[in-house]
Amino acid sequence: MKFFIDTADVDAIRELHDLGMVDGVTTNPSLILKSGRDILEVTKEICSFVSGPVSAEVVATKAEEMIAEGRKLAAIAPNIAVKVPLTWDGLKTCKVLSGEGFMVNVTLCFSANQALLAAKAGATFISPFIGRLDDINLDGLDLIGDIRTIYDNYDFQTQILAASIRSANHVKDCAMIGADVVTAPPAVIKALASHVLTDKGLDQFLKDWAKTGQKIL
Ligand code: G3P
Repeated sequence: MKFFIDTADVDAIRELHDLGMVDGVTTNPSLILKSGRDILEVTKEICSFVSGPVSAEVVATKAEEMIAEGRKLAAIAPNIAVKVPLTWDGLKTCKVLSGEGFMVNVTLCFSANQALLAAKAGATFISPFIGRLDDINLDGLDLIGDIRTIYDNYDFQTQILAASIRSANHVKDCAMIGADVVTAPPAVIKALASHVLTDKGLDQFLKDWAKTGQKIL
């Protein structure tokens, strides 16, 4: 499973990139706001060291303008995936831009039928938001499973990019159910390394080591 990092925080991306944990990056208007940076400038900087897909989202709502914005974002670097919302105009934009050879990430997906439409419109990635479904007492993971079944039934090549990931368990559940990619905030990726028994075991080893009076270096 691929890890995309869901942030526009360049330092945080770099840290994980140096560990080989970054297969791509996703941003959205809220993450650009959080970064305090200009979208074109920060996206270009991310693409300067991340070779996998870097999603940059359009903000227009009518297809014609979305297409123009998408072309401008795609011109930043060859690994840009233009992110469009799952609206009818977003699907039109997806069809045009994917036809021009650009990667397209269709975002704000909350149903299997939406994911079916995105695949038919040529999406490279579909982004179901599992945390936001959980927030309203629906099961985000069920949606990932449904999309997996549908895409496999018909051999759609669109990759399932599980988004709105809030916890380490979300990552494991998405891996178990067959999401192609998870995009997660840096803190969630780091949380994957944590286990209380690891901490407890290390503590005991270090106490016992101190009693030996030995040194390795
Ligand atoms: O990738 C989409 C993600 O940024 C949304 O996450 O936690 O705001 O629902 P969240």
